[in-house]
Parts: sequence; C-alpha cells; structure tokens
Amino acid sequence: MAYETIIVDIEDDIALIQLNRPDALNAINSKVVEELAAALAAADVNDKVRAVVLTGSEKAFAAGADIREMSEKSFVEMFTEDFFGPLNEAFLKFRKPVIAAVSGYALGGGCELALMCDFIIAADNAKFGQPEINLGVVAGIGGTQRLTRLVGKSKSMDMHLTGRFMDATEAERSGLVSRVVPAIKLMPEAMAAAKKIAEKSQVAVMVVKEAVNRSYETTLREGLLFERRVFHALFATEDQKEGMQAFLEKREPQFRDR
Ligand code: HXC
Repeated sequence: MAYETIIVDIEDDIALIQLNRPDALNAINSKVVEELAAALAAADVNDKVRAVVLTGSEKAFAAGADIREMSEKSFVEMFTEDFFGPLNEAFLKFRKPVIAAVSGYALGGGCELALMCDFIIAADNAKFGQPEINLGVVAGIGGTQRLTRLVGKSKSMDMHLTGRFMDATEAERSGLVSRVVPAIKLMPEAMAAAKKIAEKSQVAVMVVKEAVNRSYETTLREGLLFERRVFHALFATEDQKEGMQAFLEKREPQFRDR
C-alpha cells in the first residue's frame, strides 16, 4: 500500500516504518495517525512481519503533534474526533514487538509515540521533551502516564512543567531508553535488535510483550501469577521442547512458532 506520510519497507521479517514529513520535522497530523494505524494493522496480519522498527529522520523522530493542524480546533472537534485516540488504540492492539529508533527531536506527541513502542534505542543526538506546556496545553497521548512510569514522578514533573529537553545520556540514565548508540549506528543497531527478536519463537515473543505490559496494569501478586501461568503454558508449545533440546544438544534452536 502506498502511503503519503510514512514509508513502509518489509524485508527479512522486519517492517521498517519511517515517518516522512521532512518539511515539518515529522510532525504528526491526522494523516500520519491514519497511516500509522493502517501500517500496524497490516503488519499484524502479515506473516512476513515478526517485528517492527519505527523511526524518523536524523534531525527528528517527530517534533510533536502538528501544531498547524491543531491550532484552530475547538474542544468539540478534538473531543468528537477523539484526537489521536486511534493511534493509541492501534499500538495497544498491536501484538508484535515495536522498537523505536530515535534520532534528533522526539517532542510532545513524538516523545509519546516513542513511548508507545516496546522499547527505545536512541542515537546520541536524541532529544526528548514534553514541551506542550509552552503551547498552553499538556501531553495528550500518554506523556503524563507512560513517561512517569518510566522515569519517575520528579523527572516527569520537571519535563512536563518546564518543557525542557532531555538528552540521550540523561534518557538512558533515567530508564527512558534501553540503549544509546552513535547516530550513524542507530539503524543498524535497531535492525539487528529486531532481527534478533525475529529469530525467537514468535509465541514466546508475544507472551513476553503481554507479560511485561501486564506489569503496568495490575498488582504485583496478580502480575506474578499471570507470568507464572504463561510460563507454564509455553510448555504446551513445540518451541519450548525444541529450545531446551537444542540447548542440551549444544546446537541452535529451530523455532517453528508452534
Ligand atoms: C507543526 C512543526 C512542528 C510541529 C516543527 N514544525 N515542529 N510544524 N507542528 N510540532 C515545522 C516548523 O514550523 C518549520 O516549518 C519546520 O518544521 C522546521 O522547524 P523549525 O522550528 O524551523 O526548526 P528548528 O529551528 O531546528 O527547531 C526545531 C524544534 C522546533 C525545536 C523541534 O521546531 C519546535 O520547537 N517545534 C515544536 C515542538 C513542540 O512544541 N512539540 C509539541 C507539539 S504539541 P516551516 O514551514 O516554518 O519551515 C503535541 C501534543 C501532543 O505534540 C498531544 C497529542 C494529542
């Protein structure tokens, strides 16, 4: 499918989705939301996709929601359109792993988009921020919730209240990103991580995603029980037998996703 605001390239089990609005630093407008949701839905049902990498340009992952598009909207329009709601839903529904490869600005909705992904690999030039306060609004697609869970209340308040940017070193130190690499190595690193995931049993990979995400939604006791039960359940798969047998036979496993 041809898209206007994103580029999707599927190769070697990985869907690479690149935001493509260079003139607006990949600002996220309604078309981006519609196309990202469509690309994720397509990747979900495509057996050739085992992991997704989402990226922007070297200068900007995404500089936020499109201020030009939003500026004149009324409350009623924002509310009835459920502005950006479908993007959040698309990510919540998507069961395969998504890695955000962030270079340059990830601000406002751009930071929140990265936070919707399963983990973030950052280039050393990455800058994260929730500067909505400078526009007289607040984060609207997860910033006050997801960022707070990752970096804690104090730093999250600091980011949201002052609108300051966080560099890659601080982002890694704070638990916002999983790794920082030199900008030139960002895409090879993210693609290699996706490739590594694609080699695993897809059943186990999807279970990992569900179990880790469950930790945000439940008590520790319930979460531990959920984890133990899905761990038990994986013993019903051929991939568990193959993985353990391969270890004992000192060879690489051949997973078949069943
Ligand atoms: C629309 C944007 C944009 C945005 C940049 N541009 N960010 N257009 N929406 N969020 C456009 C600029 O208008 C400009 O277009 C072009 O991209 C290049 O940007 P410059 O500002 O000239 O670049 P630079 O001086 O390098 O500064 C980069 C920047 C700055 C620091 C990232 O652009 C900036 O502060 N952008 C806004 C960041 C922000 O406030 N984001 C939060 C948005 S609110 P022209 O046509 O002039 O060349 C949000 C709410 C989320 O995200 C909630 C969702 C429901």
